[in-house]
Order: sequence, then structure tokens, then C-alpha cells
Amino acid sequence: MTKASAPGKIILFGEHAVVYGRPALAVPVTQVHADVEVSDSSRPGIWIDAPDINVHAELNTFPSDHPIASVIHNFLFLSRVSSFPNLEIKIASTVPVASGLGSGAAVTVALVRALSLHLHHSMTDEEVNAFAYEIEKLHHGTPSGIDNTVVTYAKPVYFIKGETIEIFKAGQPFTIVIGYTGVSALTKESVADVRYLWRNDKSRWETMFDKAGEISFTARRAIEAGKSEVLGELMNENHALLQKLTVSSKELDLLVEAAWDAGATGAKLSGGGRGGNMIALVQTERSEDVASALMSAGAKRTLITTIS
Ligand code: PMV
Repeated sequence: MTKASAPGKIILFGEHAVVYGRPALAVPVTQVHADVEVSDSSRPGIWIDAPDINVHAELNTFPSDHPIASVIHNFLFLSRVSSFPNLEIKIASTVPVASGLGSGAAVTVALVRALSLHLHHSMTDEEVNAFAYEIEKLHHGTPSGIDNTVVTYAKPVYFIKGETIEIFKAGQPFTIVIGYTGVSALTKESVADVRYLWRNDKSRWETMFDKAGEISFTARRAIEAGKSEVLGELMNENHALLQKLTVSSKELDLLVEAAWDAGATGAKLSGGGRGGNMIALVQTERSEDVASALMSAGAKRTLITTIS
């Protein structure tokens, strides 16, 4: 039997602007993860057991564009296996689905790693990342590639589309609280809406994207220098830009304000927006208070994570 895992992720700065070539920062969230086990089977076919999404079926019964089936088909094509092996594949994931924590990328990365190990088709991280990016494109339109990158490398990433991946380290650990609005919103749609705005007034939105890019740049330096106290203000500025881009929502703004009121140093939406998650920078000892203030303000779930 062969096992592989991949973590969730959260974007700290620069979402949306990253689609237009500006830098963004994202970090792995290791409290949640996708875990895959692949074993040989005496039963003919490739059987997939994914109880979290109520799936127990043979590969050929899946629609070919099903996210799990597309990973397996693409892998078998890529690895040029001559005859289909008989396999049992177990997929379990604690990454909440469609909530900006990278659930799709986590399953893809864990699955392709488990398959490549089990079928002796070795893949470098770079290859896994490129593979996962192709899968993201199938399901999400025009993704920047930040999700698959953070999930593959499982390290904090300073990401610029199409450029060499830069992994960075925090000079001092810092804590963020992630609050889930309970509203599932499609990133594909908010990305398309931003594109519509941009097409109609490129110079205005390019200026905004530049500002978001500068925020990511400054934030990375601050994190590396261990000066996380300045990140709060940068989060607030980034949130204001995202509001102008129309990707915030009533629920997100409410949680951001609740975080401020409970003593967070800064807060912003994270990811595609319109729903999904927000994040708040907190002093570690305030994290529980901020998390419960978020729950009282309507969050459906919170996660406290330390970036080190
Ligand atoms: O919704 P998430 O967490 O997958 O993040 C999307 C980030 C965007 O910048 C809006 C899109 C992208 O592909 O980078």
C-alpha cells in the first residue's frame, strides 16, 4: 500500500491581482489535509473510495470531467501505462470543500503523488505542481497557479504567475485566525467579474493591482524580518482594495469588522471572495477570543494557524 498527503492552503495577500501578474503570498494550512492510499487489488478495475463525498465506484463509471477521474486519467496517460492496473484508491480529506482552503488542489496533489509512488513513475515536485496546475485549469478556468504551488511545496510561497517559485520563511512565527462565512462562492465567477471590470477600465484596475502587488512585496519583507506587527495594516489596506474590486460581501465585511472589534491587528478576505474565508492577524494569546467573536458574528467555522 502507498500513502501520500497534501495540506490545505490560505492566501495571505494579493489574490485577484495575482491573476494579472502581481505577486501574492500564500501559506500551507497543515491542520487540514487530503490523504490518499493506493493498493493493488484482486478486483478488476480502479476502485475509488471517497467517503467524505459519498463516492464508492469504479473509475469507468465516473463522468470523464469528474475532478478525481480526471486526475487518474491524466496520470495514466502521462505515465504511459500499457494496461490499466487493478487498484483500490482511498481518498479522505479534512479540507473543507469549496471554501478557499485549496481542497481540490490538496486531493489532486496527494492522489498524483500516491499513484506515482505506487506505480513507480517518479515525479519531482515541479512535475507534480505542473500536473496539478493542468487539473486546476480544467476545473477553474484561468487560475493563477498559486493554490497548486503552495499545496505541492507545503511551504510559504511568494508567487508570481509564470515566474520561478520563491519559498520564504517567517523571521518570527505569527498567528492568524481563519473564519469561514459559510457562503460557498465560485472563484471562477469572481475572477470573471474582475476581468469584466478590468476590460472596461484597464488603467484604473492596473493601478489597483499595482497597489496590491506592492502590499504583497512589503508583507513578504516584513514576515521575513519577523516584523509581523506591520502585517495588520497591510491586511486592512488589501481588504479595502478587494472591496473596490467588488469581491467582498456583507458576510465577509461583517467578519472583518468583528475581528477588528475583538482586537485583531488586521483582517481581510482571503481567496476568490464573495463568500469563503477571511483571515485575521492576531496576537497568539488573543486568538481564541477573536475566533469566538467571529463565531458570534456568523462564522460557520474557524481555524487558528501559526505561520513559522
Ligand atoms: O478562492 P481561492 O482561495 O482558490 O483563491 C483564488 C485566488 C484568485 O487570485 C482569486 C484566483 C487565482 O487563480 O489566483
